[in-house]
Amino acid sequence: MSPLTRRSLLAGVGTVAAMCCGAGCSTYGTPRAPAETGAAPAPSPSAAPSAEQGLAATSDIPVGGGRVFAEDGVVVTQPRSGTFVAFDATCPHAGCLVDQVTATGISCPCHGSVFDVDGGAPLEGPAGAPLAARPVRVENDRIVLA
Ligand code: FES
Repeated sequence: MSPLTRRSLLAGVGTVAAMCCGAGCSTYGTPRAPAETGAAPAPSPSAAPSAEQGLAATSDIPVGGGRVFAEDGVVVTQPRSGTFVAFDATCPHAGCLVDQVTATGISCPCHGSVFDVDGGAPLEGPAGAPLAARPVRVENDRIVLA
């Protein structure tokens, strides 16, 4: 094989290796920050609430849905009118933060797990464990971490 041919062959191997890694063959199971995944940042209050202000007003949490408070690492949901529950926003699969609550549930941007808004149980994998519960209470129509 001539040097020119060998050089051409090595360049071709490098291109194939770059294409393989670019296709994500080694990224499964590696947690990435939501910003690296292209996921939209979770909505957060315009200013950090004081302890008395709590996380949000009860009216900010939709019935059957919820809201992610990324700065506090908490998701608050209202599965039924007047019932508020909260979970740690850390996904039990590989530690990413869940980033949104949709009609399907609480979703993780890293590998697509979806969790139930009521008990935090995994509805879609790869997560096999529920989101950890966080105690909250309602004070003067505000959601407060207990
Ligand atoms: S970290 Fe993998 S699905 Fe959430």
